[in-house]
Amino acid sequence: MARIAVCPGSFDPITYGHLDIITRAAKVFDEIYVVVLNNSSKKPLFSVEERIDLIEKVTRHIPNVKFDSFQGLLVDYAESVNANAIIRGLRAVSDFEYEMQITSMNRVLNDKIETFFIMTNNQYSFLSSSIVKEVAKYEGKISELVPVEVEEALVKKFNENQK
Ligand code: PNS
Repeated sequence: MARIAVCPGSFDPITYGHLDIITRAAKVFDEIYVVVLNNSSKKPLFSVEERIDLIEKVTRHIPNVKFDSFQGLLVDYAESVNANAIIRGLRAVSDFEYEMQITSMNRVLNDKIETFFIMTNNQYSFLSSSIVKEVAKYEGKISELVPVEVEEALVKKFNENQK
């Protein structure tokens, strides 16, 4: 039986921190679905299509990674692709409470799907999409935080938004 996992998130936009988690998960699972979902507490900068396009561009070198989007519950998406695992990255203790909450909720919704956590590399422990957007907005250097395709998309987006 293939080991299929879902790597969910807002990915607004994907960063080197996300890419690190996806790359490492892809070594353990046969197939990884990177899926853009709605986080009702966030207002995204990029459209779902733009986010998927960036994920596609920066993961195309990893053969067992697929990408998708879904409007609905994560566990329903996981079931629809026959995944029995959810992968989340953990950066610091501050992530723990939030992650525990959504993991417990997902388990209540579907206890056949297990959540696995991967600790981010130390070099990315401070990194978040929000921080990247903040720095990019004020034209700070983000080349060490996101792939070049994402950097270009951020520059373009903030230039457009200024018009
Ligand atoms: O990158 P994020 O914003 O931390 O990802 C959070 C996300 C999108 C995975 C989470 O909000 C989610 O699973 N949304 C889909 C709706 C859902 O399944 N909610 C129930 C679990 S709280």
